[in-house]
Amino acid sequence: MSLKGKVAIVTGSSRGIGRYTSLELAQAGADVVINHHKSEEEAERVAEEVLAAGSKALVVKADVSVRREVETLVSRTVQEFGAVHILVNNAGFASGNVWETPFEDITDDLWRGPMEVDLKGTFLCSQAVAATMKQQKEGKIINVASTPAIAGDPHGFVYAVAKAGILGMTKALAWSLAPYVQVNAVALGSISTGWVKWLSHEEIRTFLDETALKRFGKPEEVARVIGFLASNGSDYMTGQTLIVDGGTVMH
Ligand SMILES: NC(=O)c1ccc[n+]([C@@H]2O[C@H](COP(=O)([O-])OP(=O)(O)OC[C@H]3O[C@@H](n4cnc5c(N)ncnc54)[C@H](OP(=O)(O)O)[C@@H]3O)[C@@H](O)[C@H]2O)c1
Repeated sequence: MSLKGKVAIVTGSSRGIGRYTSLELAQAGADVVINHHKSEEEAERVAEEVLAAGSKALVVKADVSVRREVETLVSRTVQEFGAVHILVNNAGFASGNVWETPFEDITDDLWRGPMEVDLKGTFLCSQAVAATMKQQKEGKIINVASTPAIAGDPHGFVYAVAKAGILGMTKALAWSLAPYVQVNAVALGSISTGWVKWLSHEEIRTFLDETALKRFGKPEEVARVIGFLASNGSDYMTGQTLIVDGGTVMH
């Protein structure tokens, strides 16, 4: 897979899956825009890693849920690199509350987190790159969702609803941006990033019991699937969701 000459924006790439995705795309030759909201130092470190991989890097602070900031993210990308070929909508609202709060106790505030960052952020970023990608007659958008969007989950009600919205949006966008822009999604199972520290031993055991491959996924394994969707290997795919969960949800 070569992404030489391509320009990628990875939202929420100061750590976790976004960081590994940035490195994967950079190793394949793409120049990468590293977006963060609060973690500037971490984002700068990712930029150094992208540079070390031989690609160009640009760090842009932008809250993906704010239209004006998203427009700046995209205009700075085009100013610096002259194009945008790949958008990975990865930024996600992370808070233990989202998982721990029973349905009856969900407040408007809690509803807003995943809805604004995950769902609206995906909409705003996709809308902001659409004109450029259509004009280029080339573009790949990869949306990061989660298996609760498909199978439901006893916890994380708002999260599951927001991610299900992203899967619906993937199909709607695939039609809206066809034929030159392909839009696909990944639905992830349990990937070992920061959130794993919230889990009890018992919860970890339950996760592993429910997973055929008997382990958490690694962020670099997710990054490789996203790398495939960003490459011309996926040129005849659009509106699809690839499940990356070690064999938990099977169709
Ligand atoms: N890890 C898993 O098991 C798993 C499973 C299913 C789906 N996912 C999805 O995969 C994605 C990445 O997950 P992760 O585990 O790597 O998460 P993470 O470690 O919590 O990282 C989240 C990233 O999103 C950024 N972010 C948060 N709010 C933002 C905003 N308003 N604007 C821009 N950036 C923002 C954070 O940057 P700042 O700190 O700078 O705000 C950070 O870089 C998320 O969409 C998540 O829902 C993860």
